Amino acid sequence: MTSGVGPTRRAVLGWGALGIVGLAVGGAGIARTWGRGGAATAILPDAASAPEFAEPPVVASSGGVLDLHLRAEASTVTAGGVTATMLAYNGTVPGPTLMVKPGDTLRVSLSNGLSQATNLHTHGLQVSPAGNSDNPFVSVNPGESFDYEIHLPADHPEGVFWYHPHHHGHVADQVFAGLYGAIVVSRDASLPGRVVVVSDTTFAGGQVATVSAMESMRGRLGDVVLTNGQASPALRLAPGATERLLVVNACTSRYLDLDMNGETFAVTGRDGGAIAAPVSVTSTTVVPGGRATLVLAATDAEARLTARGYDVSMMGGGMMGGGMGSAQAADAVLLRLLPDASVTAAAAGADFGTVPSQDLRDATPARSRTLELGMSEMMSGASFTIDGRSFAPDRVDQAVSAGAVEEWTLTNTSGMDHPFHLHTWPMQIVSIDGSAIDDVDVRDVVDVPSGSAVVVRIDFSGNAGTTVYHCHILDHEDLGMMGIIEVA
Ligand code: C2O
Ligand code: CU
Ligand code: CU
Repeated sequence: MTSGVGPTRRAVLGWGALGIVGLAVGGAGIARTWGRGGAATAILPDAASAPEFAEPPVVASSGGVLDLHLRAEASTVTAGGVTATMLAYNGTVPGPTLMVKPGDTLRVSLSNGLSQATNLHTHGLQVSPAGNSDNPFVSVNPGESFDYEIHLPADHPEGVFWYHPHHHGHVADQVFAGLYGAIVVSRDASLPGRVVVVSDTTFAGGQVATVSAMESMRGRLGDVVLTNGQASPALRLAPGATERLLVVNACTSRYLDLDMNGETFAVTGRDGGAIAAPVSVTSTTVVPGGRATLVLAATDAEARLTARGYDVSMMGGGMMGGGMGSAQAADAVLLRLLPDASVTAAAAGADFGTVPSQDLRDATPARSRTLELGMSEMMSGASFTIDGRSFAPDRVDQAVSAGAVEEWTLTNTSGMDHPFHLHTWPMQIVSIDGSAIDDVDVRDVVDVPSGSAVVVRIDFSGNAGTTVYHCHILDHEDLGMMGIIEVA
């Protein structure tokens, strides 16, 4: 396969395709050159030549504080076998994994070495959105720095969270270019499992490619899917070993529909916490921005953790000349799990202990609201809205009383799925299209499929302040699918 001039609609290859072949949206019309190693090899290399699985550097708190200087700047990195200029935190993609305990303080001095404004969001943390805490309205200009101080309450759930820029208008570009890292909240001093940050990007001429307006509307899919910055790395497992994987979906727009060639594995955590009754599955979906803790056993032969192509849209119709068609990503191999008798099983720490202590299905909501995710076609393209409006930085869209439990019905009248994210306060899914959920399912990103209605309940106690909710297809967020909530 080559990348010629002109529209780059590439064929979807099978799952052996190195996991790097995305489906560019037709009509994008930009030529891309593949870097060395980014070549569209049709099959995975020999296990022996696969990159070894590696994790981002860990920075842990001590004495209740994690003090960190985090510099965002263009850096030369090797990702997926390609040496390119990406945007990186402290020079690595992903940035360092931040390990904190409930009750700790996270002090991050963010310095902006980029050529545009940025800021920092601690996705999923149940912390104050005000002042110099997890405040998405902060703007750090090029050449400036900003000192964040984020206090985790002593009863903060253990789990996997992550950080990324949140400057409206630049979020998708900055995440796509490499700005993200994991946050693990754990009472244990050791990581409860292997950190697996999944992201995607597209390289063009040694840089991260810019995307067309149409790709943004669909939600860009990178040509390269990265697992801790590598393409399809090999993780060697001792016979009989069990591994716990802390998966973060840091892709700008890509849903990860995971399986392990039909093998069974367990999901023991979702988004910000453990789940009360772990489930045994053969596949599971992690939406953009979401996380999952997976427990899997070594197999006798190579197994592959694969993200299957996932269709978020039926944006055919008149929309963009029908060019969107089926906007489906190609399959990508995230991890090659290789049985290896020479490996000794590593002792993983204990799994996250905190399970949701409250079941909001028993609560009487103080108020119900409906939020409608929508899209309208205009001459100039499409507009992405919530309740028919695009994001306005000075308009409070939802005023909520502190301490209230509310019930929100999330509807989607658009032609594609949207992963709905609320900062600060987690959402418990109560029903999907009228079918009640029969366990406690708490998320900070809730998928709202096209045409559906998902009911969630939210407990607005603990933190108060003004923050945002938005679609976590970050292109949609930048295009205006975001609103402001004030809890007071
Ligand atoms: Cu992960 Cu408002 O974002
Ligand atoms: Cu967030
Ligand atoms: Cu969306």
